[in-house]
Amino acid sequence: MSSPKIWTHKGTFLLAAVGSAVGLGNLWRFPYLTGENGGGAFILIYALTIAVVGIPILIAESLLGRASRKSPIMGMKYLTKSHGTSSNWQIIGWMGAAAAFIILSFYSVIAGWAIHYTGLMFSGSLSGASSETIGAAFGDLLASPGLLLLYHTLFILASGAIVGMGIHKGIESGLRFMMPALFFILLIVLAYGIIAGDAVAAMKFLFTFNLSDLSLEGWLQAMGQSFFTLSLGMGAIMAYGAYMSSEASLTRTAISIAVVDTVIALLAGIAIFALVFGSGMEAGQGPGLMFVTLPIAFADLPGGILLGGIFFILVIGAALTSAISLVEPVAAFLVEKYGLSRPTAVGIMIAGCWLLGLVTVFSFNIWSEGTITHTLFNRSPFDVLEFVTNILMPLGGLLIALFAGWALSRDEVIREMATNDQWFKVWQFLVRFIAPTAVAFVFLRTIPQVEGYLIPAVGSVLIIGAFTAGRTFMVNNKAN
Ligand code: PHE
Repeated sequence: MSSPKIWTHKGTFLLAAVGSAVGLGNLWRFPYLTGENGGGAFILIYALTIAVVGIPILIAESLLGRASRKSPIMGMKYLTKSHGTSSNWQIIGWMGAAAAFIILSFYSVIAGWAIHYTGLMFSGSLSGASSETIGAAFGDLLASPGLLLLYHTLFILASGAIVGMGIHKGIESGLRFMMPALFFILLIVLAYGIIAGDAVAAMKFLFTFNLSDLSLEGWLQAMGQSFFTLSLGMGAIMAYGAYMSSEASLTRTAISIAVVDTVIALLAGIAIFALVFGSGMEAGQGPGLMFVTLPIAFADLPGGILLGGIFFILVIGAALTSAISLVEPVAAFLVEKYGLSRPTAVGIMIAGCWLLGLVTVFSFNIWSEGTITHTLFNRSPFDVLEFVTNILMPLGGLLIALFAGWALSRDEVIREMATNDQWFKVWQFLVRFIAPTAVAFVFLRTIPQVEGYLIPAVGSVLIIGAFTAGRTFMVNNKAN
C-alpha cells in the first residue's frame, strides 16, 4: 500500500470511463426510450441534460475520486475529514456502493440475454423465422430460469475475472483491446443498417422534433437516462477517478466522455431504427425493441442473421466494460478496508451480486406473480430492485453535486479542473443549483404519489436541501 495506484497513461481514465458509460444504456435503453417518447424531442432534452447536469456532475464525481485517491466509501470518509464537513456526507460512498451492487445484479442478467441471442443468431435458428416465432423465443428465454441463470453466471464470472486481474493487467489491458473492437463492430452494424435498412427514416425520426411530442414523463425519463448512461452516482466514476493521472484535465475529459457516449448512442440509434423501419416496424416497442423487434428485422433482411450475431457480441462487450466499473468500487473498498487480496475481494462482490441476481432471474418466471413484493408493492421483485436503484442513482448524483459544490474550495477545484475562474463559476453554479433542481425532479418522479405535486414538491426539497447543505458546512467550518 505504498504510492497510490494510477492508470498507466494519462488518457486511460477517459478510456475506462467511456467503457463504463457505453453499455446497455446506449444500445438497449436509449433507443427504446427514444422510440417510446417520440424521437427527436426526447433526444433534444437528453442532450441538454447531459450538457448542463451530466457533465458538471461527471466533473464533480471524478474530482472526488481523484482528490481522495481511494475507493468511494473510504474516499468520502477521507474527504469529509479533510474538508471539515459533517460525516453524514459519507453516505455518498455507501449509497454508491449499494447502487453498484444492486445494478450489477440485474445488469448481468440482462446482458445474459444478449449471450442467448448471439447463440440464436449464429446457430441460424432464427433465419426466416416469423415474427410470432421470434416473439415467442423471447418469452421462452424469460420462462426458463435455468438458461437465465447460466448466462447470468457466465457474464458475472467474466466481469469478475477482468477486475480480479487488477487495474492494469485486467481492467486497462481488457479495455485497450475491447473498446476499439467494439467501436469497429458498431461501425459495421451501422454500415449494414444504412445499406440494408431505411437510414433516411431513422434520421428523420431521431433528428426532427416537435416538442409537443414530449410528455412530462418523457422529460423526466430523458434526465434519468442521462444519469444512467454516464454511469453517474454509483461510485463507478469515482472509483476510476481515484486512479486518474493528476495531469489530465477533468473538464476536457468529462466533456469527451459525454460527447463520445452520446455519439455512440446516436449511431446505435441510427443503425437500430434504420433496420426496424426498413422492415416496416414501429419504434415504440419498449424494452423488447432489442430482443424482439430488432431480431425480427435481422431475420427479415439479407445477411441479417450474421450481422445480428455480430451485433449481439457488441452488446455483450459493451455491457462487460460497464459491468467491470460496477465491480471495481466495492472490490477496491474490500481491499482497502479489510486488506483482502484483490481476487478474494472481487470473489466476494460477484458472489453477492450473483446471489442477488437470482431475484431478477426468478422474477421473469417462478416469481412473476404472487410474491411478497407483489402483495406489498404490486411489483415483481425485479421491479422493486430497479425502483430502488432509480432512487439511489439520482439521489447519489444530487449529493455528489451538493458536496462538490459547497464543500470543495475554489482553488482546489480550479486546480483539478485545470480551468479559470469563469469556468469555475459556471461549474459551481451548475452543481450548486441547476443540477440539484433537475435531479430533484427525476428523483421525485420515482415516487408515484408525488406526481401531481411535482413542482411544489421539488421546490420544498430544494429549499430544505440547500438550507441543510449550507448549514452543515457553515457549522463545520466554524468548528474548524
Ligand atoms: N452507463 C452504463 C450503460 O449505459 C450503465 C452503468 C451505470 C454502468 C452505472 C456503470 C455504472 O449501460
